[in-house]
Amino acid sequence: MSTIRFSESVSGSIRGGVLVVTIDNAPVNATSAHVRQGLVKALEHATALGTVTGIVITGAGHTFVGGADIKEFGKPPVEPTLPEVMERIENCGKPVVAAVNGAALGGGCEIALACHGRIAGEAASFGMPEVKLGIVPGAGGTQRLPRLVGIVAAIDLIGSGRTVKPAEALKLGLIDGIAADHLSTAIALARGMAADPLRRTGGIQIAGADAAAVEIATKKVLAKARGQAAPAEAVRLVRKASEASLEDALADERATFMRLRDSREAAALRHVFFAERQAGKVGKLDGVAPRKLETIGIVGTGLMGAGIAVAALTAGCRLVGVEQTEDAAAKGRERISETLDKAVQSGRLADATRNECLARLDVTSEISRLATADLVIEAVFDDLAVKTELFQRLDGIVRPDAILATNTSYLNPDEIAAATAHPGRVVGLHFFSPANIMRLVEVVDCKATLPDVLATVLAFARKLGKLPVVCGVTEGFIGNRIFSAYRREAEFMVEDGASPADVDAALEAYGFPMGIFTVYDMAGLEIAWARRKRQAATRDPNARYVEIADKLCEAGRFGRKTGKGWYDYSSGEKAVDPEVAALIAEARTAKGIVPRGFTPEEIVRRLLRAMAEEGKALLDEGIAARSSDIDLVMINGYGFPAHKGGPMFAAEGNA
Ligand code: 3HC
Repeated sequence: MSTIRFSESVSGSIRGGVLVVTIDNAPVNATSAHVRQGLVKALEHATALGTVTGIVITGAGHTFVGGADIKEFGKPPVEPTLPEVMERIENCGKPVVAAVNGAALGGGCEIALACHGRIAGEAASFGMPEVKLGIVPGAGGTQRLPRLVGIVAAIDLIGSGRTVKPAEALKLGLIDGIAADHLSTAIALARGMAADPLRRTGGIQIAGADAAAVEIATKKVLAKARGQAAPAEAVRLVRKASEASLEDALADERATFMRLRDSREAAALRHVFFAERQAGKVGKLDGVAPRKLETIGIVGTGLMGAGIAVAALTAGCRLVGVEQTEDAAAKGRERISETLDKAVQSGRLADATRNECLARLDVTSEISRLATADLVIEAVFDDLAVKTELFQRLDGIVRPDAILATNTSYLNPDEIAAATAHPGRVVGLHFFSPANIMRLVEVVDCKATLPDVLATVLAFARKLGKLPVVCGVTEGFIGNRIFSAYRREAEFMVEDGASPADVDAALEAYGFPMGIFTVYDMAGLEIAWARRKRQAATRDPNARYVEIADKLCEAGRFGRKTGKGWYDYSSGEKAVDPEVAALIAEARTAKGIVPRGFTPEEIVRRLLRAMAEEGKALLDEGIAARSSDIDLVMINGYGFPAHKGGPMFAAEGNA
């Protein structure tokens, strides 16, 4: 079988009269210019050869096609465009079948849709994640997908950007079949199709959709849009598929794609996309092999410990949970099992996987059982003495090559490490609650942490499907240090004349799911109060200090759980409380402050500046390695809107 080269990334070979075209453009077979050019040449070659009866398109490696080449965005266009390639595929006189070997995303899914048939291998997946990049599909996806799966399912898939596995794709009508040997099956399909009239996706009459179901699907997408433009545009275009001609709708889709591609929102989301792929990469770890991790120990199975346990179990680890008493161990097991049940109920976990997880779980009051653990994570009370004493005890129990991780939010892990026999094996893992859901993990590279220990916990975090961001030791690490600076600035503005509700409304309009005072009430005011009291003696007496939060705590207003905090929750709903307004007014009078008004723009500008300045300090101190890491922490741990790119990106005048 000789290979025909159509471009540097597209080649072909003829099998049983069918031209099998392979896209090989590592790492994800994106549709770079040479891929598009190669595909067109391949189609022309197959059309010209009388002996070829059909064409199969497949991808080399693990991916079918990961989408348009995002790195080409913003560069001058190179012919042919992706829509032109789709047009050539769809209108080809010979059957074209996609043999989908791996992920077919964005432009990759659009290639499959433009083909006359689609066969998925078992590792295939399909999705249109464009809205996650602030754009809409730009090569026919909004028009061809609804022709195959209907308007409602297309709104869901394109509006959410979610990925589906072959079984769901088949059920939806997106593909024609699933086969272990997808290539041979696709070849057979292409050969069998030759005599039939070709099923051109663009020519399919759109199935009449239930208007109520379309409205429900639309509302669901818009409810999650948080002020972003792309989801609404994507829905509008999909709905247009049943209202306009293919030609008009495709022209609208392309124009919308181009406009959004050049928007700040899309630039911000692209920044986030590449930032995520950079995160957790540490130069000094090049060539450092991670240690093997099979059994994870977790000391403390409260809310945090149970969340971490569920994340580790669902990632396939064996887990030993340790509690102080048998009774507490039974409750811990119960908590873990209930969290797994909830994951099953919400469809995030298969029933069978839950049972496998439980079979790998052991919760006990015998700390000596941690002798088998490769990594022990402590999730006990956030107190230096408690954690230090625990680690000293673990020194005498765990294997010499086992890793000890502390899940602390504020304590200094260097101090904990220094009190142990082998400080090199100690590392910080700051999970966010609920740990089985939240993606972010701050991985604290302590003074003595060994490179392979760091490499191992990074690999562990990735195995759990988390987004690890490495940081150095400082009080509050990256996230809580920025959060403290941002909260301080918000309190300054409240003392100067803004109301907590003004600040929250400005943040929510910017894209935060919740304003800072609402978050504060949800988390509870008492932990920060205790910290402030601890720090009172060492606080700079000349630094501005706002006492309002202390006064709220003194009045027993610890937030939502006590019914009152910055707001009043006694009616069950969040309400502005005149008592808080009076307390704030008193604080202003005591300092002789004449309150002034703040516009939402000023509020947001000042809060962004406070975050960016603290971020800059973290970079200068070497706590964060890159500013994009700071952006990821704030987006994934603190509700910063991803479509604004994070505080550092926004501070550069980008959003
Ligand atoms: N363009 C350019 N580079 C891409 C890319 C793309 N579409 N997708 C991934 N890459 C790069 C990454 O930046 C990374 O580079 P690095 O090694 O230098 O860090 C490398 O490919 C590997 O990426 P991952 O680490 O993400 O690899 P995985 O194997 O974990 O995942 C994937 C593969 C599932 C394909 C994942 O990369 C992904 O989700 N990619 C983006 C998919 C996407 O959003 N496609 C839509 C693009 S827009 C579009 O198609 C518009 C069209 O409608 C016109």
